[in-house]
Amino acid sequence: MKLYAITMLTGLVAGITGCGKDPRLEKGEAVFVANCKVCHAQGINGAPIVGNIKMWGPRLEQGHEVLVSHAITGYGLMPARAGRLDLSDENISNAVLYMMSTVENQ
Ligand code: HEC
Repeated sequence: MKLYAITMLTGLVAGITGCGKDPRLEKGEAVFVANCKVCHAQGINGAPIVGNIKMWGPRLEQGHEVLVSHAITGYGLMPARAGRLDLSDENISNAVLYMMSTVENQ
């Protein structure tokens, strides 16, 4: 809980100062909000919830590249490209990066 508060605070400070924020994360967050949040905020169909290290732990170990390829081709109940076939590989890659950033360093 304490760690979580620190993470929130660091995020807030970085947001205010605009310092060192990876532009891919900002783009990824926008893609996430528009296309992924609907399932990944609450865990619809068992989707790993953003910010939940328990749900992401074993998935993170696969690395960004593999996670992106699963999001592109579809994986279990995860629809290919979240059912949005117009989303580019780059959009998916940025969104996955954003999702990973919500649980990394916890
Ligand atoms: C319709 C609901 C839904 C939407 C929308 C959705 N996902 Fe998922 N996602 C899932 C489910 C369910 C799983 C778990 C699949 C499993 O493990 O069987 C999942 C798993 C994943 C995983 C983990 C794959 C792995 O190898 O463990 C990634 C990465 C992912 N989604 C990325 C995304 C991205 C990026 C978007 C938006 C562009 C998105 N998802 C939108 C339902 C969704």
